[in-house]
Amino acid sequence: MANVVVVGAQWGDEGKGKIVDWLSSRADVIARFQGGHNAGHTLVIDGKVFKLNALPSGVVRGGKMSVIGNGVVLDPWHLVKEIASIREQGVDISPETLMVAENVPLILPIHGELDRAREEAASQGSKIGTTGRGIGPAYEDKVGRRSVRVADLADRATLESRVDRALTHHDALRRGLGLKPVDREALIQSLLDIAPEVLQYAGPVWKVLNEKRRAGKRILFEGAQGALLDIDFGTYPFVTSSNVIAGQAATGTGIGPGAIDFVLGIVKAYTTRVGEGPFPTELDDENGNRLGTRGREFGTVTGRKRRCGWFDAVLVRQTCATSGVNGISLTKLDVLDGFDTIRICTGYELDGEMLDHLPIATEQQIRCVPVYEEMEGWSESTEGARSWNDLPGAAVKYVRRIEELIGCPVALLSTSPERDDTILVTDPFED
Ligand code: IMP
Repeated sequence: MANVVVVGAQWGDEGKGKIVDWLSSRADVIARFQGGHNAGHTLVIDGKVFKLNALPSGVVRGGKMSVIGNGVVLDPWHLVKEIASIREQGVDISPETLMVAENVPLILPIHGELDRAREEAASQGSKIGTTGRGIGPAYEDKVGRRSVRVADLADRATLESRVDRALTHHDALRRGLGLKPVDREALIQSLLDIAPEVLQYAGPVWKVLNEKRRAGKRILFEGAQGALLDIDFGTYPFVTSSNVIAGQAATGTGIGPGAIDFVLGIVKAYTTRVGEGPFPTELDDENGNRLGTRGREFGTVTGRKRRCGWFDAVLVRQTCATSGVNGISLTKLDVLDGFDTIRICTGYELDGEMLDHLPIATEQQIRCVPVYEEMEGWSESTEGARSWNDLPGAAVKYVRRIEELIGCPVALLSTSPERDDTILVTDPFED
């Protein structure tokens, strides 16, 4: 029995939904371990489309347990709305099938307001391009030791003192940004109103996961965003506010690192990014437009157009290392069908020197000039291929070259959004 972590190995939007759904159909427990409702996971099951932000993908499948770990930040109003909308689609969600860790910090309306006010106030070039959902300010409060956590909802006096602690900080900040002070009574009342709905799901996720593990159950840790948005290893400060890399699956749920048997990195056959920040292989030309149009590259949460570029092997080699990726799932290869030539970035040139990794300073990151290797394209369609033999020779060469350059094998190759259009090389649960 194996426990598998799925992480995005680029800037998010690698097509995790389909793979996570396939793996979750074979897992017993599905756990979210970081991020919040900034994630947009679309699942298509028997023709029905489910859109999830905060809930683990397992909720849409019967007989599974889904958990939201302590590494997540949770907007309780969004959670309740999301549960209601999934229920409307005929899915049963109950405290037997969903557990929220008692130590999850809450995202409050003041976090969203602060997130948006800061973005508005930031000058061009310093905007992060956040989803505006309060993710960053909620994590700031967590490490600032002034969060309201799920368990605090159970007792009015505790809740009031936690809110007061947070407001001492927030009201000062808001004054500086020209925002009105927080209406304390209204905030407390709205938290008390939502409390019973959230508390029915609250529980010790760390304990349940450890028990499930001992009982030989399969756990799938479902990552959101991508490793290049990681707060430590991403393109800081143009990142999200959580650790996104695979190690977070352990600290974000309370299971030891030894419980992780396989890390699957999801990798798109080219590169995209939503929001601001360095992107060495970005294409501001016809090829970039073509990738965006063919790949339908629009954000699921904000609807923003994604920036597109060639595959960057330097960055994926780096994220495979920082997440200890055992195998990758390569997605959206078919978007490259019909290009005469395709480029892969194999290194950067900076101030006359060759680099085999992305330097940490933003100022250097934006000056890195990608060094490309050009490969022959293919005119045949790869969409829907289910075996290596179905792929044109040039496409196989492209995939093999990616494996070589990133130093990690392909475990799965996804050739369309359909579940069966997948070439399986290694089953992460059986490896
Ligand atoms: P935040 O997570 O809302 O603070 O946004 C920080 C950065 O992460 C922005 O560039 C967002 O566009 C990006 N981001 C956050 N969530 C996702 C996601 O699920 N997919 C892709 N990018 C994301």
